Order: sequence, then structure tokens, then C-alpha cells
Amino acid sequence: MRTRRRRVAACAVLAAALVAGLTSCGQEARGGSRYQPDKGKGGTVGIAMPTKSSERWIADGKNMAKQFRKAGYKADLQYGDDKVENQVAQIENMITKGHRLLVVAAIDGSALTHVLTRAAEAHIPVISYDRLILGTENVDYYASFDNERVGELQGQYILDRLDLTKPDPDADERHTIELFAGSPDDNNTKYFWNGAMKKLKPYFATGQLVVRSKQTKMNQATTLRWDGGTAQKRMDDLLSKNYGSTDVDAVLSPYDGISIGIISALKSAGYGTKRHPLPVVTGQDAELASVKSIVAGEQTQTVFKDTRKLAKQAVQMGDAVLTGKKPEVNNTTDYDNGKKVVPAYLLKPVSVDKKNTQLLVDEGYFTKEQLR
Ligand code: GAL
Repeated sequence: MRTRRRRVAACAVLAAALVAGLTSCGQEARGGSRYQPDKGKGGTVGIAMPTKSSERWIADGKNMAKQFRKAGYKADLQYGDDKVENQVAQIENMITKGHRLLVVAAIDGSALTHVLTRAAEAHIPVISYDRLILGTENVDYYASFDNERVGELQGQYILDRLDLTKPDPDADERHTIELFAGSPDDNNTKYFWNGAMKKLKPYFATGQLVVRSKQTKMNQATTLRWDGGTAQKRMDDLLSKNYGSTDVDAVLSPYDGISIGIISALKSAGYGTKRHPLPVVTGQDAELASVKSIVAGEQTQTVFKDTRKLAKQAVQMGDAVLTGKKPEVNNTTDYDNGKKVVPAYLLKPVSVDKKNTQLLVDEGYFTKEQLR
């Protein structure tokens, strides 16, 4: 049964390859490149996004589809509903249909090896979008933000808000903090975590920052699929077990959806009043609900990553690959996926708190009315 299915699948790939202009199965494209030989505009680009549960991925997908169309291609935009098997099936389908390029934001960075082997056999180039695809040579370029910098911005923000970086901080003053990390199957998680730890760890060592739960390892702090509800439950637990008479002063959160869950747990435990204010809570993505929460004085900070710019970068990369040009990259050392160092273009993230939410309006990311 399995072999038969494989054979059918192989034929589908062959059919797609023939449609795309190849002459025989496994034949290398012109010039030894594994890309399709018919360079130029036209054809369809497959865009595989992880989920619609977060507004950023909706915007990323829409922006890319729009810009690819403007650049002379058709776009096939699919969302995997955060289920790995859906995403794999969607990518398989894109290959079978003979799409010329794949742009993928992986649900699980390590789960695409097999399907991307099929993409390579069909000479379809692959751009890893925002999240690095791991464990395969069959990923050509990576478009993202400086992920470690995101974590540094979150960690530094906590230090600044707790006055730990002033010239003469009171060495005896202790602050409490709890730590959250992203999804364990997302390669970005460790970059965010490492960036934040670079800033926070020295203060764990001096005792100025105390993690009462003692959950200081990344694998104790991860949040599967970045789920806010999961984070809320963990925060409920951390509070009830470790913060009877003491308050938590800061919570490192790697993503706005997680921050919202954390804040719900804090409110249920009685935080969020004048006498019992919320701790410093970081975030990432500048999602509308979180920016509004910042304006309302609840979430403290987020990291703005302009998804319009990321989409533009990925489209430029894809267009360059398809028209036989060399895509622009600015990092060729840091993103090793276990099989190769993937050439990357990294954009700059920006820290946003109550003082500079206007930046999001000035940049046209939100309207003034949306932030009210
Ligand atoms: C990460 C991404 C973050 C955030 C998170 C949850 O991969 O870099 O910006 O969106 O996923 O969706």
C-alpha cells in the first residue's frame, strides 16, 4: 500500500515536472542549478503559512500574495491551522500542481524534510519565511528579523523598567521574575530566549533578579504552538505555587498572544488594580490587541516587526530566484539548519511601549482610531 502510494506520488511529481518544462525525471536544471530551467516571470508561487489564529500570519500571507501578484506571478496562499500534517499536505499539493516557488513559515521546523526532498526533485526553490526550516539542504534562502535581537530588546526592557541598569542600582534590592519561551518546535524560540538570557542572566547571578519557581531552563518555559491558553494555565500555576505573599515584578513573554494569557492569569490572581499593579510584561509582534493593552496600561512592551517589510523582502528574494538573479542577503553565518548555513536577510525589530506607540501610527501599521 505504502509503495503504491509512493509510486503514485512520484508520478504526480513527474507530471508536475513535465508541465514545468523538464524533459526527464531527476534531470538537473540548466547550469547544474536545481531550479526550473524556464526562468522569468509567470507561474504560481505557493505560500504556506502556519495559522490564522494570529493576525500577523494573516497579514504576512496577504501581503506576500498581493506583492507576488504585482510582480507578475499567481499566488496560492494556504494556512495549516497549526497542524503539521495539514501543512505537509498543502506543500505536497503545491508541488503536484507545479508551482514554481515555495515560501514556507513552518509550523514545526523539523517536519518538512521529506516533503522538501520532493520539492527539490521537482526543482522548486524554497524560501524559509520568518522561521528557519531545519534538517534539510533543500531550503535556499531565509527571510526574517534579527531574532536574537528581539530577545535582547525584551530582556533589556525588563532591566530598564526595574532600574537595574542605572549607574548605582541598590545591590540589596531583589526583584522577582518569571520566564516564558515560545513553541519548542519553532527554531526562533531559542534565539529569542538566548537574546533575553544574555541580558537577564547576569542579574540572576548577582541575585538582583529572582525566579521563585526556579524554572530557568528554556525547556521548562516553552509554550507549545505559542498558545495563549497554555501560557495562562502555566502562569496560574506559577502564581499559586510561588507567589503567596510576594508579588511577581516582571514576566518575560516572547509573544503577544502569550502575554495576553499571562495577563489574564495575573488579573485572576488580583493584579491590575491601583494598589496591586500588574508586573512588567513584555511581548512581540505588535498585535492590535496587545498594542491596545499597552495603551491601556496593562501589557508593558512589545517588539514591532513590520510584517509588510518582511513580506516585501521574501517577494524580492523569490522574484530574484525565479528570474535568475541573486537575492540580496545580509547574513551568511548565523542560521545553520543542521545541514547548511542558510543565507538570510534579517530585518531590524523595534521595541515599543506606551511612550512610542505613535510610531505604529506614523508607519501606517495601525490608524490612530484603531489604537483608541
Ligand atoms: C514566531 C515569530 C514571532 C511570533 C510567533 C508566534 O516564529 O517569529 O514573531 O509570531 O512565531 O506566531
